[in-house]
Amino acid sequence: MVNTAVNIGGIPLKNPVIAASGTFGYGLEFSPLLDLNDLGGIVVKGLSLNPYPGNPPPRIIETTGGMLNSIGLQNIGVDAFIKEKLPLLRNHDVAVFVNIFGHTIEEYVRIARRLSEAEGIAGLEVNISCPNIKKGGMAFGKEPKQAGLLTKRIRKATSLPLMIKLTPQASDIADVAKRVEGEGAESISLVNTFLGLAIDVDTAAPLLSTITGGLSGPAIKPIALRMVWEVAQKVSIPVVGLGGIASYRDALEFMIAGAQAVQVGTANFINPTTCREIIHGIKEYLKAKHIDDINQLVGSLNLPGHETTSD
Ligand SMILES: Cc1cc2nc3c(=O)[nH]c(=O)nc-3n(C[C@H](O)[C@H](O)[C@H](O)COP(=O)(O)O)c2cc1C
Repeated sequence: MVNTAVNIGGIPLKNPVIAASGTFGYGLEFSPLLDLNDLGGIVVKGLSLNPYPGNPPPRIIETTGGMLNSIGLQNIGVDAFIKEKLPLLRNHDVAVFVNIFGHTIEEYVRIARRLSEAEGIAGLEVNISCPNIKKGGMAFGKEPKQAGLLTKRIRKATSLPLMIKLTPQASDIADVAKRVEGEGAESISLVNTFLGLAIDVDTAAPLLSTITGGLSGPAIKPIALRMVWEVAQKVSIPVVGLGGIASYRDALEFMIAGAQAVQVGTANFINPTTCREIIHGIKEYLKAKHIDDINQLVGSLNLPGHETTSD
């Protein structure tokens, strides 16, 4: 038997594979397609205080090696989630992370408080990284000081473990990571999408209603991996890596770079059973390599002749 269990800032996961926010609905939509109990965790679609319609279409387009989206955080709102989705979700043996976003610090704080009263939530994933809303979101994640302040305020408002989700749009993502760690975050996830643009050359018009959108999928994997590697060297809290993961080998790359767990996003749209296949692939890999504990792989990047810096 190999051990695939990991611990993300006090949250035990039976394996390190988590479905990423916005690509797995509220989890329940996927239960006819795969057994949610097989997953390490689920991050539900980003929730706001009130229901939110998101941006007008077109808001998803396919690009080379990935997709651009500008959904704009359409969601049912925190109260409907607690009433309609959570009671069904907590019947499963899977860690449920609730992704939250706000336009102001006060809004984040109020959502966090509301969710603290609910039962069955393993932790909050705080989205300070969405490129598709006009106010709030990514604005907090680009600035270490703002990110720190927001983390501090949410930390005071809830005892739920906090995973802060970082944006690759920050000029120094490791700096943001250090700041949120210093303000009490239990873990960090990265990355959210990269800001992108696509144009219809026949009409010279942008393909998305919002002009720009967030790029995800295999196209971003090497950049996300580099960022995870950089951040993992700078912080001592667990790092959860994501960006373009579509196979168990992709997932292992992130773990070797220093991630203690991974999230799978866009790949769920192509094959809804990707998470299950990745878990199976990881187990087979560990057996074949005679590694009895997945945690041995974390940060095991082999750099012959190189010194890595850590401070
Ligand atoms: C359609 C879509 C919706 C998303 N919605 C959210 C969201 O609500 N909250 C969030 O933090 N990230 C959201 N994301 C970002 C993903 O969780 C993930 O960070 C990103 O897509 C990179 O991972 P991937 O390449 O595996 O998809 C969304 C991504 C997509 C493609």
